[in-house]
Formats: sequence, structure tokens, C-alpha cells
Amino acid sequence: MKIAQFSRFGFMISAVGAAVGLGNIWKFPYITGKYGGGAFVLVYLITVMLVGFSVMIAEMLIGYLGRRDCNTNFEHLAPRHKGLWKHAGWMAVTSTLVMMYYSVVIGWILNYIVVASTRLPASIAEAEVTFNTMLTQGVGTQIFYHTLAFLITTIVVAKGIKGGIEKFNMILMPLLIAILAIMFAYAMTMSSFSHAASYMFAADWSKLNSEAFAVAVGHAFFTLSLGYGSIMIYSASLPKGGNIVHSTLFVIAGDTLIALMAGMVLFTFLFQYGAEPAKGPGLVFISLPAVFYAMGAIGSIFAVLFFFALAFAGLTSAVSLVEPMVQYLIDKFDMTRLKAAIVIGLIFYLFGIVAILSQIEWSAPYLTWGGKNFFDWMDYLTSSVLLPVAGFIMAIFVGFVIEKERVTSVLKSQLGWSFPLWYFSIRYIAPIALIFVMLNLMGIITF
Ligand code: PFF
Repeated sequence: MKIAQFSRFGFMISAVGAAVGLGNIWKFPYITGKYGGGAFVLVYLITVMLVGFSVMIAEMLIGYLGRRDCNTNFEHLAPRHKGLWKHAGWMAVTSTLVMMYYSVVIGWILNYIVVASTRLPASIAEAEVTFNTMLTQGVGTQIFYHTLAFLITTIVVAKGIKGGIEKFNMILMPLLIAILAIMFAYAMTMSSFSHAASYMFAADWSKLNSEAFAVAVGHAFFTLSLGYGSIMIYSASLPKGGNIVHSTLFVIAGDTLIALMAGMVLFTFLFQYGAEPAKGPGLVFISLPAVFYAMGAIGSIFAVLFFFALAFAGLTSAVSLVEPMVQYLIDKFDMTRLKAAIVIGLIFYLFGIVAILSQIEWSAPYLTWGGKNFFDWMDYLTSSVLLPVAGFIMAIFVGFVIEKERVTSVLKSQLGWSFPLWYFSIRYIAPIALIFVMLNLMGIITF
């Protein structure tokens, strides 16, 4: 079955929409805080440029040349051992695993739009109670908002590439950028802006260890939406003649810019009101609401705008997380798009409820293994293990398996003089960096 096509600009915006997500605004600031700021940001930026850039081109190329679901793309493009390579396409399953917790977090954000507009917590202590009560006791609240996230995502995907995903991104992404730009401009007028800048950009190498390095590489994959098939599936709908290299640069620039802007806004606000930068995953749900309260009237407006922006970022990524397996069902089982969207939607919806229960006081003990609950396992398994493994497989596939003529036929003219650099990077630098991440995870390489 032929895949419907994006417009060229729609493709770029939708790929940026996939990349810019909770990773940029929720996760990036708190892991930057955890690993001490500047040095971590620098390693992350270098990884994005070196590994992220080359792997994104590879993933786009597989989609662009294959034009189908992930499994068929690998099968189609492998010159030999097609039956074996087709299994590499199972990387798309990661997208549904991610949605099992991602939809829950979008639910928290939707809930916080309401919290921000009705009863902002007046102190960090109060904010902590609000957040922890929702997390450990609020089954009904979390399920309600998770249901909302599930419905929005499923309906958009059911409407298709052009009428659903492209349109949704064309509306929400400009709004997200406008909100962030307003908050950034306001942050620039505050005295803590320079403190935030030095926190994010002055490197303190003593804080950088192998774990921080591995987290930076893992996050580069997470934030760029690499390794679970969305970039591949979107690229399968890139009109022929669309430029992969320009699109990659556009996505990376957009994603990095938004992460840095969000980081600067958050740290400026937090420092201005004496809050802790290393607060962990609760940073935007605990410290930030209390800071918004302290800012007075403008803070209440920013609070609502901020959670809207975060919801927009999350939802445009969520549709990209649902699409790969939906396309698989359409291609393989000839399902209608509506039916495929409902099947995948129900899978992540039901496991999302398990993720919620795994943090609720009374049910958590039954859903916790090895010190991690179901929610944490899904996050860990996907971002620390499956995404880097898929990145490694794609790098090897494009670097060594697909015939070089096929690669050059598309990329030689687009990359020009830098083609040999990219080819070297996808064959050696990216795989070595990814092997390092995996060995670090197993505790074999540490420094
Ligand atoms: N890149 C998006 C984000 O940063 O939120 C979407 C995403 C990709 C989320 C991969 C999670 C993930 F594991």
C-alpha cells in the first residue's frame, strides 16, 4: 500500500514536532541539573552534532529509499539475508513501549494546565505535596488525563499523515515556539539570566564521568527521536526530491534551539527565586510551579502558557510515536488506518494504566522489580537500551550493508564535499560511540 505524502514543509515541521518533545523541556533541564550543567551540555551538543547528525541522515535514508513500514524497508534494502534484516524493523516496537509512559506524562501536563489556572502551589513544599499526591494517590486523576492524551493522539493519527499529523503540527508547533519565545524574552530581562547562562555553558569537567557521557549520548537519541522508526516512517512520506540533509539540519537546529531556550528560561526563573536546579524529574512539576507563584500575576499567566507549550511539545511527539506501528499494521494486515490507530492506541493506553498503578502507593509493590517500577523500567529500557541499540543497527546497515551506490545516489549531491566525513562517521564514529554507551550500561567501561 502506498503511503500518503507530506508537503515538503509539512514534513520538516512534523519531523521537528517529533523531535521536540518532553525530552527538550522536561528531561533536558533536569538531567543537565543532575550532571552539573556546562560540561554535560557540551558533551550532549557534540554528540548531537557527531552521532545524532549522522544517524538521523541514515534513518531518513532508509525511510526515503524504502517507502514502507520499518520491517519492509530493511527487507527491501538489504542486498542479502533479507529474511534476517527484516527483523531490524522491530525497532518500531520501541515507539509503543515509549508511549506506555509518555502518554501518562502528557496526562500530568494536561492536569497541570488545570492546576496552573486554578490553584498554583504557594511554596516548594506545597508543590511537592500536590505532585506526590497526584503521583502516588491520584489514580482517577491520572487515568482521566491519560485517557485524554490517548484520545487526542489516536484521533490525530487516525486522520492520516496529511489531514492529521501534518495539520496538527502546523498548528501546534508555531504556538509552542511563540510561547517559548515570549518567556525567553522575559527571562532575558531578569538578573539571573547570566547566572543561568554560565550554569549551562561554563564547563566544569570534574563533574563529567562515564555515566554522564552515556546519558548524554542516550539523550541525543531520545531528543532527536532516533531509533524507534518515526523519522524513518515520516521520511517514507517525504516527496521524492525532498532534501534529507537539509531536513536533518533543520530538525537538529530546531530541536537544539528549543532545548537550550527551555533550559535558559527554566534556570533563569529557578535561580531568580532561589530554587534548586537538580531537582530530578519533578523539576517542572514541583520547583517551577512554586516559582511561578512567587512571580505574581505574570507568573500565573506564564504557568498556564508553559504547561500548554509542554503539552503541545508532548502531543506532537506522541503522534510520531504512534505512527510507526500503525503503518506496520496498515502495511502488513491491510487494516484501515482507523482500526490500526485504535489497536495501537489501546495497547499503550492499557499499559499506560499499568504505568500509573506502578507508582500508586498500594499497587506499586506489585509492579516493581529490581528497584524500578514499571514506569521507570519502560523509560530505562527504551531510552538507555533500545534506542542506542537501534541506532547501532541502523548505522551498520547504512554504513556496511546497503550498497554504497544506493547511498551515494541520494546523498552524494546533498552532502557534497562532506560526504566522506559523514560516511566515515556512520561507519565508525557512531557505532563506536553507541558500543561505548552499551558497555557503560553493563558497567564494563566506567571512568
Ligand atoms: N524526541 C521526543 C522527546 O524528546 O520527547 C520524543 C521521544 C523520543 C520521546 C524517544 C521518548 C523517546 F524515547
